Amino acid sequence: MIILGIETSCDETAAALVEDGRKVLSNVVASQIEEHKIYGGVVPEIASRRHSEAISAVVEEALTQGGISLAQVSAIAVTCAPGLIGALLVGVNFAKGLALSTGLPLTPVHHLRGHIAANYLCHPELEPPFLCLVVSGGHSHIVMVHSYTQLEVLARTRDDAAGEAFDKAARAMGIPYPGGVELDRVAESGDPHAYTLPRPRVEGAPLDFSFSGLKTAALNLLHNAAQKGQTVHVPDLCASYRRAVVECLVESFRAAALETGAKALAAAGGVSANRLLRRELESLSRELGRPLYVPELNLCGDNGAMIAAQGYYEYQGGVRGGMDLNASPQWEISQALTV
Ligand code: KG4
Ligand code: ZN
Repeated sequence: MIILGIETSCDETAAALVEDGRKVLSNVVASQIEEHKIYGGVVPEIASRRHSEAISAVVEEALTQGGISLAQVSAIAVTCAPGLIGALLVGVNFAKGLALSTGLPLTPVHHLRGHIAANYLCHPELEPPFLCLVVSGGHSHIVMVHSYTQLEVLARTRDDAAGEAFDKAARAMGIPYPGGVELDRVAESGDPHAYTLPRPRVEGAPLDFSFSGLKTAALNLLHNAAQKGQTVHVPDLCASYRRAVVECLVESFRAAALETGAKALAAAGGVSANRLLRRELESLSRELGRPLYVPELNLCGDNGAMIAAQGYYEYQGGVRGGMDLNASPQWEISQALTV
């Protein structure tokens, strides 16, 4: 069964073809990052406009690269939550139009469930249940994936997401959006013990994350140095900051793994591309003797293949969207999508 996946929740217009939820036939991503860079972050109105301009060509290119005609496609999967509402609506409305004109069924997909499903594309042997650290630009969760469509949030961030924490600190260091990627690269040559930064915990909720205090500590350090005319060694600060964020993530994830007794571990979302996080999760996997699954680097960020992969399992579970399908900026990953 071939699913066409469409993704427009943030700043990538993406479409892909996936067979039986596991095999990528094509995966086309048109990124708008260069355009948002000068503003230091994604400008929602610009994102929606660029999605509208690109979506037809991106879907057509996915079909061409896959060597597949629409007649061979079994269903259309589209991200309808969470994300920027205007951006999501472009994908949802395009998918609805395509479903109406072709008679193909439509399946709504939760963006973060899609991120988790990127692992199914890279690891044929991976099946639920497993424990997943979901870390993106907008969300940070620890999720128990009970089955392909039954997910439970065990922990979440109380303020900034991990990606946001990276991007905001990077911006203060003069690294352009999305700074997390470059901060990670620069950190490789820095000393992770050079600067002392806090490891904030949430009282009464030991698995939850909180990154705003850590981000503020880094900003204060930069402001104080500027006021005193001192120079900050950027690679050292990147390395120290990255270590602090990764330690917070891995400490909670380790506790959740022990508490739940999960037999397998996984990571997903843009931040799962982080070099140190991948190394630390590998060593956690060795320490606990449980296998670790992470997506290939090109499937960590937003893409259509992950939406088609999750769409396959949602479709098998009977999830359908009608012509009244709407988009939603927020939606719990644990709830079935009936927007
Ligand atoms: O999942 P994603 O592509 O989009 C959302 O759903 O938000 O995540 C994007 C986020 C950005 O904050 C970006 O800076 C971060 O993932 N990111 C990284 C790395 N690669 C992407 N953060 C740290 N290290 C990386 N290597
Ligand atoms: Zn994402």
